[in-house]
Amino acid sequence: ETVEWEAASYDMGGHDTYMHKEISEQPDAVDRVLRGRIDDRFSTVHLGGLNLDPREARGIRRVKILGCGTSYHAGLIGAGLIEGMARIPADAEPASEFRYRNPVVDPDTLYIAVSQSGETYDVLAAVQELKRKGARVLGVVNVVGSAIAREADGGVYVHAGPEVCVVSTKCFTNTVVAFALLAVHLGRIRDLSVTDGKRIIEGLRKLPAQIQEILEGEEDIKKLAAEYAEAKSMMFIGRVRGYPVALEASLKLKEISYIHAEAYPASELKHGPLALIEPSLPTVAIVPDDDLLEKNRAALEEIKARSGRILAVAHREQEKADHTIVVPKNEDELDPILMGIPLQLLAYHTALAMGRDIDKPRNLAKSVTVE
Ligand code: AGP
Repeated sequence: ETVEWEAASYDMGGHDTYMHKEISEQPDAVDRVLRGRIDDRFSTVHLGGLNLDPREARGIRRVKILGCGTSYHAGLIGAGLIEGMARIPADAEPASEFRYRNPVVDPDTLYIAVSQSGETYDVLAAVQELKRKGARVLGVVNVVGSAIAREADGGVYVHAGPEVCVVSTKCFTNTVVAFALLAVHLGRIRDLSVTDGKRIIEGLRKLPAQIQEILEGEEDIKKLAAEYAEAKSMMFIGRVRGYPVALEASLKLKEISYIHAEAYPASELKHGPLALIEPSLPTVAIVPDDDLLEKNRAALEEIKARSGRILAVAHREQEKADHTIVVPKNEDELDPILMGIPLQLLAYHTALAMGRDIDKPRNLAKSVTVE
């Protein structure tokens, strides 16, 4: 299955940068990755190019997701979605690390290679090595017909459309949505109930409008960026589903603003990084309204007790935070998709305020096709 990219999609379309254009395109991009794939009759998802029949899907004992940079972060969220919905142990690892540690390649493991470009050398080399050892490899790829898409046994196209800016935004979001689709598909073949399948599908359908709602808050995020732009360093924290969101937001900020940023699981703060907290090191905290809310609030208190400034991304105002960006609530599983979006805008406006070359940050290339 293919989606044609029109020449017009490379146009700036009135935006000053490709990054801004690509952030703004997310409601349409998410709509595209969902289109034609939802089956309401069985509360499931059909993925045409997967090449994995239900009997094979039932035989999977583990899922290992491989990618680099932002695609690795999307894979971390994807692993959580698959493990949560399909109840298959799943994890993600940077493709290069995997490749160099002579991994055990297990025939009952489903390997998934994630890549926007489909050309990243470390990911491609991992796929080739896996295939050489007889593993089954799927691709979650944006560029149709790219090297990784061709090498894989099957996969899910992400349909984000062309992404020109070196930093990935819409492709990250669409990749996570593609993983949610795959998780529902595998889940409904295994133990995900009709009710839960339906619940997630309804949640997925709400995403485009909810993303639009977040994008409409851009002016407020711009003001916050002006306030935090003078920081020399920033901390990003999240717990479980929120941790990959923190990792990705911190990568976005460092790539385009060159501000040093660290991401930690909120629970790890007291094991070391708390020593860094003082008024000049702001923390961005991912605080979803889920079963971990109280735990996350406790982390905010720990930071406040050390006079740290806090910007929370949450579903309601957080009193311990100096500022809260309130995002719409979806199903718990899908919240990370929405919570990442205001932080793309935060990185964007911070870099803009600092006069950075947003679409082409120093030292970086869009696809890393060498080792
Ligand atoms: C994203 O903002 C980065 N520029 C980078 O981490 C990127 O995600 C990574 O190089 C992987 O690229 P790919 O998705 O095309 O494989």
